[in-house]
Amino acid sequence: MIYFDHNATSPMDLRVLEAMQPFMTSFYGNPSSLYRLGRVVRSALDTARCQVAALVGAQPSEVIFTSGGTEANNLAIKGSLVHPASSKIFISKIEHPSVLEAALSIKDALAIEYLNVDHQGVVDFKVAPSRLATRGNLVSVMMANNETGVIQPIAQLAEYFKTLHAPITLHTDAVQALGKIPIDIKTLSVDMLSLSSHKIYGPKGVGALVVRQPDALTPLLIGGGQEYGLRAGTENVPAIIGFGKAAEIAQVSLMARSESLRQLRNYLEKQLREQIPGVTIFSERVERLPNTVQFAMPAMDGEMILMQLDKKGCAVSSGSACASGGEASHVLLAMGVDAALAKSAVRVSLGEMNTKAEIDQFMQLLKSIINNA
Ligand SMILES: Cc1ncc(COP(=O)(O)O)c(C=O)c1O
Repeated sequence: MIYFDHNATSPMDLRVLEAMQPFMTSFYGNPSSLYRLGRVVRSALDTARCQVAALVGAQPSEVIFTSGGTEANNLAIKGSLVHPASSKIFISKIEHPSVLEAALSIKDALAIEYLNVDHQGVVDFKVAPSRLATRGNLVSVMMANNETGVIQPIAQLAEYFKTLHAPITLHTDAVQALGKIPIDIKTLSVDMLSLSSHKIYGPKGVGALVVRQPDALTPLLIGGGQEYGLRAGTENVPAIIGFGKAAEIAQVSLMARSESLRQLRNYLEKQLREQIPGVTIFSERVERLPNTVQFAMPAMDGEMILMQLDKKGCAVSSGSACASGGEASHVLLAMGVDAALAKSAVRVSLGEMNTKAEIDQFMQLLKSIINNA
């Protein structure tokens, strides 16, 4: 099978599985328990917290483990709603549904302002000072888009908002950027960062919100006071250990991984341009994740191509995995892409196990599908 959908999820690294296994059998203690079996597990959790923190230049005490990127985004958006009166939230139109829907769910309590993107999918963050609320402003712009792979100018955005001298909290959904490009929360000057483990060869169902000022956040889940009181519930120990291990591996191999992915991605784009007449490669003129290419062919249906490729043993996406069901991608529509072209979009997201030979095979399959359509 050819797996070209790593932005949806990635296969677990066997070293991660190995690190997790003892915590499903021998080390089953509750990390809140005071006896030895609990303390051993607590210490392993602390190590995982350090590993995740190190990958994004944060302090371990700033890492709040969650059930994934979705919960991290929900916590950032809904948990920041401390002063609903005269507060605002600014989000880009191309955010993941876990940001868009979280914001919509609180729209009665605070005003939402949407930030547009240009034709290449880059967020226009220049908000006129008069549009800011006096009490508090939450700005949430993703670090890299899951469909186009476009890397957003988060450091410039943070710099710009600082010059406005208004009360602002900056959140960035770094789920797709993690492990693919270097991230340093301090250099970026953001207040909160959402992460997910299963996009970096770790287990599913675990992620983190990195928060620089935990006191400013209200928990969504209350109870036993775990995770510094910001996310109650007995920790998903094996998954957190796995996330830590995946983060450690990602940190060591980041540069080499990114470079080999970039070469493969460039090779794929070259083949697409040479072999598919009329192909459009979205956002090709701006900085993108090294593993992602979203493209479209005129008069073809992206979902039909996906299904045909699936029959031949090749997994790709027609956009966001969470937005399947025949709708044109909200990301491409926000970029001003024509709806018909947007519906023909196919996303390939490469991973570290992919090879040039797989790309050659993919090109043969794609051409035969187009020729028989
Ligand atoms: C940009 C982005 N944010 C958030 C998420 C949600 O992460 P999780 O699957 O861990 O809930 C995803 C998943 O695809 C994503 O691509």
